[in-house]
Amino acid sequence: MSRALRFYRSAIGKKVVMAVTGLIGIAFVIAHMTGNLLAFAGPEAINSYSHFLKSTGELLLVLRAVLIVAVILHVIAAAQLTIQNRAARPMGYVDREPQVSTWASRTMRWGGLLLLVFIVLHILHFTTGDLKPAGVFSTADVYGNIIASFRIWWVVLFYLISMIALGFHLYHGAWSSVRSLGLRQPSPNPLQRRVALAVAAIVWAGFVAVPVAVFVGLVG
Ligand code: HEM
Repeated sequence: MSRALRFYRSAIGKKVVMAVTGLIGIAFVIAHMTGNLLAFAGPEAINSYSHFLKSTGELLLVLRAVLIVAVILHVIAAAQLTIQNRAARPMGYVDREPQVSTWASRTMRWGGLLLLVFIVLHILHFTTGDLKPAGVFSTADVYGNIIASFRIWWVVLFYLISMIALGFHLYHGAWSSVRSLGLRQPSPNPLQRRVALAVAAIVWAGFVAVPVAVFVGLVG
């Protein structure tokens, strides 16, 4: 067996894979959230940004491939870690009262699954246009797609609930990736934990801003 495969078979190997692929995801959501804020600058700004991304051709294909592989590896490692943990304690705890785990850490699995469902529906909604909650879709008019969709309350609600899941997932994920990669500071309130909280809060607020602004009529 190769050294890489032997490393991956250990729990820490899977955690490192989750950490690295998770960091790729964090870089993507920061970039995506920043791009979305162009909706506040009007149709011209966000539509030409979208047009620019699509015009990069092969670069976009490579970025998409990296993202898809990262998501697949992240999910497989998470599922295998869960199975490994359950096998190590098949009976479960009689009286389980977690001492140090946070609410966010306990929602990682369900929140992660919700995010997976969100990503699939989101791509069908804004990238392929197979889901048209407002009945309209144009690949050339991202701004129009955003405005039409976020005038519908249940679309906004679905995005807001998904972004809550994203916020918790990011906070806990960013912090545990620091620990898995051995970058933790020996302190009761390490800087990295505060950075994880700030990243999660900024990404959450940036994503939520667009649907809320459209819904209340600030944009559109
Ligand atoms: C309120 C939050 C969000 C809004 C308004 C939003 C909006 C959009 C829009 C308009 C597109 C199409 C862009 C284009 O065709 O040029 C898009 C694509 C995409 N979004 Fe989002 N997004 C949000 C959150 C997220 C989150 C949280 C994720 C991932 C966790 C995500 C992942 C993606 C992916 C993977 C694509 C496809 C990119 C590609 O074309 O390859 N989005 N989003």
